[in-house]
Amino acid sequence: MLRDAVRALSEAKIAPFAAEVDEEARFPQEALDALVAADLHAVHVPEEYGGAGADALATVIVIEEVARVCASSSLIPAVNKLGSLPVVLSGGEDLKKKYLGPLAKGDGMFSYCLSEPDAGSDAGGMKTKAVRDGDSYVLNGVKRWITNAGVSEYYTVMAVTDPDLRTKGISAFVVEKGDEGVSFGAPEKKLGIKGSPTREVYLDNVRIPADRLIGAEGTGFATAMKTLDHTRITIAAQALGIAQGALDYASGYVKERKQFGKPVADFQGVQFMLADMAMKLEAARQLTYSAAARSQRVSDGGDKEHLTFFGAAAKCFASDVAMEITTDAVQLLGGYGYTRDYPVERMMRDAKITQIYEGTNQIQRIVMARNLP
Ligand code: CAA
Repeated sequence: MLRDAVRALSEAKIAPFAAEVDEEARFPQEALDALVAADLHAVHVPEEYGGAGADALATVIVIEEVARVCASSSLIPAVNKLGSLPVVLSGGEDLKKKYLGPLAKGDGMFSYCLSEPDAGSDAGGMKTKAVRDGDSYVLNGVKRWITNAGVSEYYTVMAVTDPDLRTKGISAFVVEKGDEGVSFGAPEKKLGIKGSPTREVYLDNVRIPADRLIGAEGTGFATAMKTLDHTRITIAAQALGIAQGALDYASGYVKERKQFGKPVADFQGVQFMLADMAMKLEAARQLTYSAAARSQRVSDGGDKEHLTFFGAAAKCFASDVAMEITTDAVQLLGGYGYTRDYPVERMMRDAKITQIYEGTNQIQRIVMARNLP
């Protein structure tokens, strides 16, 4: 039922703008409005904070269905989860009440600020500093590649509170867009997900109340990593959705397109391609849903159940599969697939980022190797 509902909404209210959002590299406001109206913009927020209380698998299905028509729009529910999960996992009760309520209501989105110009894969090498000063912290630094920056009201920012302790000297904070000293860089000019703004976040002597610290000082890196264990699964969901959109389009197209007097779908070479695409996609889906079930059991207080491995594996596998499937979809449309008159070239460009963000697939393999089940 959830899938049917999100699919109907996505096709009616998000798909019609997907090409334009990509072409004009503009934020998909129509998608945000439709998702907020249907309470699907941040489904993971627990009911006690005014949210829909969706479990990890339901959240995956929402993201997957939105991504099937528009990858940029799927970053609304995905990054709302990424940005706010540190508060859910490690924040105190007051912080949760203060920020999860407005997020659930649709009053403000959340972004996640881990990466920096010189700290990408090596997230622990960050330089942004937070210095305690009485009842405040003062933050200085630059965060880069911040999804939905400028649109979001709230930012989870990881910053160094003790430079001698490397990852154990990193703390997490909530910073608000309106805090004095917060500003944003020019939007990055990207290959895909063009509707989702990616900008730098500048923190220039940003003074915030000390109670915006998430958890204890020095736990920010662990919180950031624990968050990614859960949210890499949402990137896998996005990859599944993009790939499903490309497969659906290509499988319809080959039935219509005639060459040598018959639909190209009648040629065995084309059938083999479609079969491989569908087979890989289903394998990726099963791994992703299994990872989501583990994510939920951990959130419910269960054992870790190799979540770190499964989160990395789902993200890595599903994104590699999405890149293959979208590339094959372009191939199945031939010359037409290479033009912007058809959606599969956009899907191929959008798929690429899923191999890169929330940790490159090379980093995922390092994470898997360190956490073999
Ligand atoms: N759960 C809990 N704690 C963890 C953890 C996990 N999965 N992984 C690490 N930690 C904690 C532990 O306390 C650990 O200390 P111990 O070993 O003493 O337990 C500490 O962190 C340090 O861990 P590592 O020694 O493993 O740290 P490292 O410096 O070697 O880095 C890494 C590990 C996996 C490479 C990590 O830096 C990483 O994940 N890099 C990729 C960064 C990334 O994914 N960035 C994504 C940005 S967000 C984004 O892309 C969003 C978007 O746009 C949509």
